Amino acid sequence: MTRKVQVAIDGPAGAGKSSVAKAVACAMGYIYIDTGAMYRAVAYRVLKAGLDVDTDAAEIGRLAGQLGFEFRDVNGEQRLFVDEEDVSEVVRTREVGNLSSPVSAIPAVREHLVAAQRAMATAGGTVMEGRDIGTVVLPEAEVKVFLTASPAERARRRLEQLRGRGVERDFDEILADIKARDERDSTRAVAPLKKADDAIEFVTDNMEKDDVVEHLVNIVRRAQENG
Ligand code: DC
Repeated sequence: MTRKVQVAIDGPAGAGKSSVAKAVACAMGYIYIDTGAMYRAVAYRVLKAGLDVDTDAAEIGRLAGQLGFEFRDVNGEQRLFVDEEDVSEVVRTREVGNLSSPVSAIPAVREHLVAAQRAMATAGGTVMEGRDIGTVVLPEAEVKVFLTASPAERARRRLEQLRGRGVERDFDEILADIKARDERDSTRAVAPLKKADDAIEFVTDNMEKDDVVEHLVNIVRRAQENG
């Protein structure tokens, strides 16, 4: 008998986490959970409510606790609903992305989101992607992966990804955003981005996505059999 396991994928922005996590989930018949989209959704609601991240941290924490998050499959595509509003597109704007970093540094926001994420993964059969999944959210996950790539490579990929969506952006601007976000995410006091001691690390600059996915799928299969 095989048992579905928990897969934690962490790493900085633009390392290829999303596409790898989605492909692994698809190959295994697992549910893919993008925790970054949840932090972005809180940032979107902060903007919508006209709150200020510098002065309204307590209120933002309360707001995060009131939101109902649900990932739904719509025509084979994973979409995030917050209280029945499909926020999948709006959370991808630059404004929301930039605000999501200070919002994610508010301890009460993290408490609420971590609890929601744990609840989503209790049954196993999940590939959860984020910054603190292997260290904080699912420390018992059977498979932990840390995906990285150089900042320039990550900026190049993000540029391509945006181009695919018809958005033109400047390379240097993207690179500056990535570096600033890395700095904030890895130096913040609460749940900074760091590799779990027992995570397998992949530096993906010169790796094909398919090779990373194949490798991971094999690791997940082995973990299932050992479970
Ligand atoms: O992966 P992303 O760019 O969509 O993440 C958006 C922001 O949320 C980013 O600043 C890092 C933060 N984040 C976090 O603190 N913890 C997570 N588990 C996922 C994302």
